[in-house]
Amino acid sequence: MKTIVIFYSFEGNTKLIAENIAKTIGADLLELKPKREMKSKGFMKYVWGVKAAIMKAKTELLPIDKDIRGYDVLFIGTPVWAGTYAPPVNTFFSEHSLSNKKVGLFCCHRGLKGKIFDKMKEALKNNQILGEIDFRNPIKRETEKNIQKAKGWAENIIKTL
Ligand SMILES: Cc1cc2nc3c(=O)[nH]c(=O)nc-3n(C[C@H](O)[C@H](O)[C@H](O)COP(=O)(O)O)c2cc1C
Repeated sequence: MKTIVIFYSFEGNTKLIAENIAKTIGADLLELKPKREMKSKGFMKYVWGVKAAIMKAKTELLPIDKDIRGYDVLFIGTPVWAGTYAPPVNTFFSEHSLSNKKVGLFCCHRGLKGKIFDKMKEALKNNQILGEIDFRNPIKRETEKNIQKAKGWAENIIKTL
């Protein structure tokens, strides 16, 4: 089965998990990159980012060099922003009407993941959800443990296919 890990990451946590999942299961990797990334590293990033997430903003993405239609299994990862997925993932969902895919969901947060997985499932309702997992700021907290957790989770999902 052709498998790809698709993710957005602002500060590297989701990227760390995505790269480890892709490496472990031998999947392709696709990073969603906004044309214009948020510049602020201070408090303003929350003001802008929270507003963008709540308003379901769609940030324009750089062109994607992979044809998603050719993949059977998708792992999709995002940071939690205001209890939901980040705007670049929203753009991705709206630009690719995904259906009949097998999907694993993962997210990174700082302790409040809210109903992000319900929201992702709602956006992916014509697909089969294989599993979901979340990580709490893995760059700062228990990095190696979180990497092993991600690897084990992805391997188990692949084994069931
Ligand atoms: C705009 C913005 C909104 C956020 N909202 C939440 C939130 O609702 N709940 C939470 O637990 N963490 C929230 N965070 C923290 C990130 O989800 C968390 O640090 C995550 O690990 C970052 O992933 P990344 O490094 O891949 O960007 C927010 C961060 C930003 C920048």
